Amino acid sequence: MSGESPRRKNSSGWTHRASRLRPSASGSIVESVQIFGVDIGGSGIKGAPVDLDSGELAEERYKVATPQPSAPDAVADAVAEVVGHFGWTGPVGMTFPGVVTGGVTRTAANMDKQWIGLDTHALLGARLGLPVTVLNDADAAGIAEMAFGAGRDRDGTVILLTFGTGIGSAVFTDGRLVRNTELGHLELHGRDAETHASSKAKEDEKLSWAHWARRVQKYLAHVEMLFSPDLFIIGGGVSREADRFLPLIEGIRAEIVPATLRNSAGIVGAAMTASRAR
Ligand code: BGC
Repeated sequence: MSGESPRRKNSSGWTHRASRLRPSASGSIVESVQIFGVDIGGSGIKGAPVDLDSGELAEERYKVATPQPSAPDAVADAVAEVVGHFGWTGPVGMTFPGVVTGGVTRTAANMDKQWIGLDTHALLGARLGLPVTVLNDADAAGIAEMAFGAGRDRDGTVILLTFGTGIGSAVFTDGRLVRNTELGHLELHGRDAETHASSKAKEDEKLSWAHWARRVQKYLAHVEMLFSPDLFIIGGGVSREADRFLPLIEGIRAEIVPATLRNSAGIVGAAMTASRAR
């Protein structure tokens, strides 16, 4: 059962249009406001409609492998497959693993270099024929964690770091995001930090948890020296295994907690951003 509602404000204060009718736990029919979120990563592209009131995926997410090479046209086709899987026809928010300003992708450390300087907003909007919003993947994850996850109700300086193929960052001060901070590319031991301390580095170099935790600790100490955050939120796929490395990290003044939205943070944050953009 589905239907469009007129533009209005939901309980979080954002405007939106897409909505669906769904049965509630008690069996009555309620309106849930939904926007579609897509998380584009170096290895997978995943998406789902997001319930903006709860910050939860409204349906099980659908995932396809990122085409290799990850050229823009091939990735746009994969995004269309994910969105088409749900027969979605409303607004779509998307993440990209690089700097995004004004809908243009400016960097692509772990994606095909054709993305650099591309008007990705125009490309994906034309491919889907739907209103789209594009933002950095870690910024999206941070927005979702601040609203519905580990950063909820947290003021001061909060830094979310995603450890995956690269290291992504989202910096908040009293709940406001400074976009495109790219702290994964700080220099550590003369190297790009993400090549040293991402979870890909752990896998590629077959590092033990203890060895990798020492690298993460040095990286966090460096970020702490620069920003003095009150809270670090550790995200990315590896946050599922936070118990195996967070207890090994010492000497950081800030509180350190794992992200709680896990794999859906990027999808949820992308949908929230698309909703705000309307
Ligand atoms: C990119 C960031 C991205 C991070 C996580 C880095 O290589 O430069 O923009 O957020 O990877 O995907």
